[in-house]
Amino acid sequence: MRRLSALDLFSNNSIKSRRTLSVCATKHQLHNINTHIKMGAEQYRPPLFSVAPMMEWTDKHYRTVARIISKHAWLYTEMLAAETIVYQQGNLDRFLAFPSEQHPIVLQIGGNNLDNIAKATQLANAYGFDEINLNCGCPSAKVAGHGCFGARLMLDPKFVSEAMSVIAANTDVPVSVKCRIGVDDHDSYNELCDFIYKVSSLSPTKHFIIHSRKAMLNGISPADNRRIPPLKYEYYYALLRDFPDLRFTINGGIDCVDEVNAALREGAHGVMVGRAAYNNLWNTLAHVDSAVYGEPSSGLTRRQVLEQYQVYGDAVLGTYGNNRPNMRELIRPLSGFFYSEPGNSLWKRKADAAFLNKNITTVKSFFEETLVVIPDAVLDSPVAELPSGRKDLFANVRGLLPPPYETRTEEVVVYAQS
Ligand SMILES: Cc1cc2nc3c(=O)[nH]c(=O)nc-3n(C[C@H](O)[C@H](O)[C@H](O)COP(=O)(O)O)c2cc1C
Repeated sequence: MRRLSALDLFSNNSIKSRRTLSVCATKHQLHNINTHIKMGAEQYRPPLFSVAPMMEWTDKHYRTVARIISKHAWLYTEMLAAETIVYQQGNLDRFLAFPSEQHPIVLQIGGNNLDNIAKATQLANAYGFDEINLNCGCPSAKVAGHGCFGARLMLDPKFVSEAMSVIAANTDVPVSVKCRIGVDDHDSYNELCDFIYKVSSLSPTKHFIIHSRKAMLNGISPADNRRIPPLKYEYYYALLRDFPDLRFTINGGIDCVDEVNAALREGAHGVMVGRAAYNNLWNTLAHVDSAVYGEPSSGLTRRQVLEQYQVYGDAVLGTYGNNRPNMRELIRPLSGFFYSEPGNSLWKRKADAAFLNKNITTVKSFFEETLVVIPDAVLDSPVAELPSGRKDLFANVRGLLPPPYETRTEEVVVYAQS
């Protein structure tokens, strides 16, 4: 199959999309493709709530349990390097296949080589993700140290626009960028706006996910990079003011669904939650469908969620060969399932012992062995009341907005005119 250029996308989009519709579109693809065709990318609406891409956390197993709990949350994959997709062509299912229940699901790609990004997108397109996202926010030395990759890409908006153009040209679904509000000393609001303006003008990108703190590439750890640089939500809200035709999702430091709703009330188009959706899995995701989407929640208890997850776990245990996925990998997504509940620490100790017990060979037997330390009241109660968030999180954000951005049009060739 020929790889498509950005120009092809604009001239062929409807033909290509119609063909896809008839062949393999899922319900969510249909929604997105129709959104693309009928409404134009400008009117694309980002998900109200999404779970952030998190390496080694938001794997297939985590996403399975997350989807059992919430039907409406959008789920991002871990970042997958374009090179991995290209070099693992014979083994792609292991990296890209997902159960259809996991829709809506977004693939996040990382990369710094346009050919590989194009090829990776084309290969991934066959798997039917609902959106493709480019990582421009990861400060990890492993990623950022290897040339221009992750957060470093924010310093090269021209490359990002080229990358986004080739991604858009090789997929049927919407595309987005996830970035920080700056990098090292390039942390002024104006520099952030220059990045957004150039990327959105030079490529079809209309949706940006803004992790509202800068990245520091001076060697501090990724974990510190999610803690030390201060959150500046005022930059996020100023982007809404200064780029009314674009769509922005806010991310960073939002700890519960009450705070998600506070961000939405303040005008956010969408909210992405990372650590809270993993470390406090149940209390976060069990409220999303009703409190964010106004839809009935699943009504499941924790025990019922585990019963469903067990069926999945026992079906996939060892199926990749070499004993993968193993019990640890399948149980790891549950590390935040009993967060702050009685029995939580004891359950973790029992789980550590059970991993070493050769007689425990199924997820069912793992649960039988370990769940005895969790009180029935925890396992069988419906989700508790919506916990209150911090009242002051966005309280003064409108008063802190930086001065409006003044577009430097002379530096940019507008994409639509090129
Ligand atoms: C363990 C871990 C892995 C992460 N991996 C990625 C990643 O692959 N791609 C990415 O864009 N961000 C990654 N992030 C950052 C999150 O997506 C998110 O931007 C960050 O945690 C801030 O959101 P939060 O405060 O809600 O956690 C990771 C975060 C964590 C905790």
